[in-house]
Amino acid sequence: MAKRRLQKLHTRENDVVSVLVPKVTPKRFIGHGLPGVQLEQLRGKLIVVEGADGSGRSTQIARLVAWLEGTGHHTVQVGLKRSTLVSEELEKAQQGNILSRTTLSLFYATDFADQLENMILPALRAGSMVLADRYIYTLMARDLVRGMNEAWLTSLYGIALVPDAVFYLEVSPEQLVQRVFAKTKQLDYWESGMDLGLSRDMFESFLKYQALMHDQFRRLTLTYKFHIIEAERAPELVFEELRERIQSMLAA
Ligand SMILES: Nc1ncnc2c1ncn2[C@@H]1O[C@H](COP(=O)(O)OP(=O)(O)OP(=O)(O)O)[C@@H](O)[C@H]1O
Ligand SMILES: [Mg+2]
Repeated sequence: MAKRRLQKLHTRENDVVSVLVPKVTPKRFIGHGLPGVQLEQLRGKLIVVEGADGSGRSTQIARLVAWLEGTGHHTVQVGLKRSTLVSEELEKAQQGNILSRTTLSLFYATDFADQLENMILPALRAGSMVLADRYIYTLMARDLVRGMNEAWLTSLYGIALVPDAVFYLEVSPEQLVQRVFAKTKQLDYWESGMDLGLSRDMFESFLKYQALMHDQFRRLTLTYKFHIIEAERAPELVFEELRERIQSMLAA
């Protein structure tokens, strides 16, 4: 069976490599889903990389894309605030801090829904590998930290597809702060949870907020079964683990 799913591919150097054509496994929605979607037509795989600011998501996704494309898979990347419909407006609303928690949450849900309908589902229908740099779990964790109702959030994100794999890059808040400083020399207002009033000091607020987010992720994993990846290791070791897990998911 596995043999039939191996296709031969010639590289530019004319080496022959085998591409593992993933088996089509049934997809399902987290809850009520979107109307009119034929789940059995979704042939591609949805792979989600979750993790805090600076946890190494972009680093790992870049490697995963290079590896997947190099082995003959077409990839599509999605992420938060990347919809053509509302990403610019969402960015402006955040800069002005003008929205209530509920409307901000709905704005993010709209951004997600637009990408789901117009990018994720078409790409999965075409058999592509969709790599999501964060998914509904970050959105849920952020809102849960802000005291929003879990049943309401579960219903709101009932439109989402259950991914084929979810990886949570786990990095301590102390390590995160060093990476973020090294990368951008500053902390972000929202990623430091400054709207929560945890501390007037942004550095202290970042540590507290990221610890709260981490607790929520650990709790969400009981329901949504993430693979928790120890991401304080060297990038190549983290990548090795991701690659192995994805490989076994594709071969399953
Ligand atoms: N395993 C690692 N060990 C040490 N440093 C790392 C590791 N992975 C990434 N970094 C570094 O940490 C910084 C943040 O990495 P990266 O941009 O990949 O994270 P991110 O999760 O995408 O962050 P953002 O939330 O800002 O998009 C970068 O400077 C990167 O080089
Ligand atoms: Mg990034």
